[in-house]
Amino acid sequence: MEYKIFGKTGQKVSSIGMGTYYDPAFITARKLHLKGINKTNVDAVKSGIDNGINLIDTAELYGTEEVVRDAISDKEREKLFIATKAFPNHLKPSKLRKACLRSLEKLGTSYIDLYQIHFPSPFVPISETMKEMEKLVDDGKIRYIGISNFDLAKTKEAVSVMKKHEIVSTQMSYNLFDRDIEENGLLNYCKENGMAVLAYYPLAHGKLVNIKGTDSPMAKIIESHKGAKPVHVALNWLLSRGENVFPIPRASRSDHVIENSKFDSYTLSNEDLDLLKKITS
Ligand SMILES: NC(=O)c1ccc[n+]([C@@H]2O[C@H](COP(=O)([O-])OP(=O)(O)OC[C@H]3O[C@@H](n4cnc5c(N)ncnc54)[C@H](OP(=O)(O)O)[C@@H]3O)[C@@H](O)[C@H]2O)c1
Repeated sequence: MEYKIFGKTGQKVSSIGMGTYYDPAFITARKLHLKGINKTNVDAVKSGIDNGINLIDTAELYGTEEVVRDAISDKEREKLFIATKAFPNHLKPSKLRKACLRSLEKLGTSYIDLYQIHFPSPFVPISETMKEMEKLVDDGKIRYIGISNFDLAKTKEAVSVMKKHEIVSTQMSYNLFDRDIEENGLLNYCKENGMAVLAYYPLAHGKLVNIKGTDSPMAKIIESHKGAKPVHVALNWLLSRGENVFPIPRASRSDHVIENSKFDSYTLSNEDLDLLKKITS
């Protein structure tokens, strides 16, 4: 496993992480207390950790903080980088603190490495939320502050209201089929300002692993790297886009997670990267 510095934290984390968003039905069932957590999902995250992945992403929304809790219960906490997210209806200071304490409880840990705002709120000024985020850092509840689904203008606004601590990362949809953050300048802004980018939907929600036919750019690359898999091409392509990019493919079953952890079994050549410019959804 390769490790690289995560934003301005100075801390090295695995080049790929693990995501724990499953699906809307799972979220609803968890909210209604109709479903517990599932051993297969817990084992998937455990396998990732055993194979060197130390960056784990969850959110209060997903109903999977307890999956992470169970997966990390027998691991060395300080070697892990646990990221969770506050939902937009919890961005007023008192609600944010309560949401953070709830997440800590569900995660079974005394601190969150990266606390992210899941989506910007149209109702709560970002300065209010960030003031409380900074207090949470000062109180030792969270180590670093992140954002997610903030466009470039909102990212700049969030950065501008920080008083004591910096925003170390954003989390955005980014994959071979969705290059919006390259086109709208957000990726460059993050590079220039030392912010990490957690790439969600790195496999285009699964579309990138099921490429059929022999004529596509992906098929040609697979042909030239014996044993390569589309999932590895998709992850390596993201990693080639910048030192600050960290793909977080979903971890719901061990075999896939173990396969994903072997993404660095080969490197994309310049020729491959040229071919991938032509890939379309
Ligand atoms: N910030 C946000 O608003 C936001 C939004 C969405 C997602 N996220 C985060 O990003 C993470 C990833 O997004 P995602 O889960 O929606 O999409 P994804 O990782 O792009 O794709 C997930 C799909 O790929 C499959 N997959 C994973 N590894 C595979 C492999 N080696 N071979 C074949 N199939 C494989 C998964 O199947 P299996 O499950 O069967 O392995 C699943 O069907 C989430 O889990 C979440 O943490 C954040």
